[in-house]
Amino acid sequence: MTSLASTRKILLGITGGIAAYKSPDLVRRLREQGAQVQVVMTRGAQEFITEQTLQAVSGLPVRSELWDHAAEAAMGHIELARWADEILIAPATADFIARLANGFANDLLSTLCLATRAPISIAPAMNQAMWAHPATQANVVLLKQRGVRVLGPAEGEQACGDVGLGRMLEPAELAAWLMPTQREKLLSGIKAVVTAGPTRERIDPVRFITNRSSGKMGFAVAEALYAAGAEVVLVSGPVHLNALAGIERINVETADEMLAAVQSQLVNAQLFVATAAVSDYRAATVATSKIKKTADALSLDLARTPDILATVGASVNPPFLVGFAAETDNVECNALIKLNSKRLDMIAANKVGDGLGFDKDDNALTVYWHGGQREMCLCNKRDLAKQLVQLIAERYREKHPASN
Ligand code: PMT
Repeated sequence: MTSLASTRKILLGITGGIAAYKSPDLVRRLREQGAQVQVVMTRGAQEFITEQTLQAVSGLPVRSELWDHAAEAAMGHIELARWADEILIAPATADFIARLANGFANDLLSTLCLATRAPISIAPAMNQAMWAHPATQANVVLLKQRGVRVLGPAEGEQACGDVGLGRMLEPAELAAWLMPTQREKLLSGIKAVVTAGPTRERIDPVRFITNRSSGKMGFAVAEALYAAGAEVVLVSGPVHLNALAGIERINVETADEMLAAVQSQLVNAQLFVATAAVSDYRAATVATSKIKKTADALSLDLARTPDILATVGASVNPPFLVGFAAETDNVECNALIKLNSKRLDMIAANKVGDGLGFDKDDNALTVYWHGGQREMCLCNKRDLAKQLVQLIAERYREKHPASN
């Protein structure tokens, strides 16, 4: 694939966090896509990774000193600030984020960030308590207001043993953010609405019903549709994922909110892909105060949530409809029932439970439509989404030959 990144000059700032060990992989991925990468390290970063390693993978001498007399004779920090098409700070520590927010210029990296006109992205990486601290959050808000793009952080286990938000995004995700996607024409002119992630149905002010959906499958489908040229609106339940720039994202919490967002976006859409794991039930009444632990047993009355996909399927003149079926048993039979009862054009069935489907990077699908089926073997959800989108485009063109 020819990359639009072939002439892009990326300045990668590395600050002092354990996630710096992922920097060589990030440099490699950016270069694989044709970018030139100039690494600038802070003193702290040098405690975690050597200049020699980064010089070897970037193919350029690493810069770290503001007071490098040879370089500064030629105003090295200004030269670097002008050289970059884009600056990415990864990992970005709490300290560096604070310095950036406050306009410090006390080392090479912070100085050139002040001097540049290039867009700046940061990939925060720190302990979850440091990330949650009001000081860090205020700095991040300030940076966002100034146009700095904040990539992540992700949630998960941390080097210190804590679990929570604060992990740096993986190099593959960062590289995908930095490199403009080469968009195909396969679905150009088509507006697609995608649902992703779980919904949350409130029980009382502090509790809710939800499920294990991470949103990975739905975000991958949205990205693949975007790469295929479609205009994409992603309606997402609460997840810790970033959508690609270019994809319009609408955040919702409940099934009712998801239905309302979908219906308003479908007015001029040709395609609807429902990957969300919408909660099928909600509390019949939501308690206004926290439910107290008074009896040994407690019963909760549940009421059905709206079936978003079935509602769209029953509408007048529905768009091309692709559903997902998450099944623990009788996958084919249950998927075909949903294909027919929800009046779908296609359904992608996945076996879930026992560590399959939900909250995994990999998945496998069997896609059914009226008169056919296709197996898509276990692979990364991004690759799987590309295969699915190819098939959606084929089936869509068959149903709407005039759009060819
Ligand atoms: O998010 P991940 O961690 O990556 O996991 C991916 C996934 C397992 C959630 C995904 O691959 C998947 O299977 N999504 C559909 C989950 C689901 O709710 O399936 P279902 O068989 O219960 O529903 C059938 C279809 O109806 C789905 O397209 C669903 O979005 C839709 N639905 C269901 C209930 C409801 N109230 N409204 C709906 O629109």
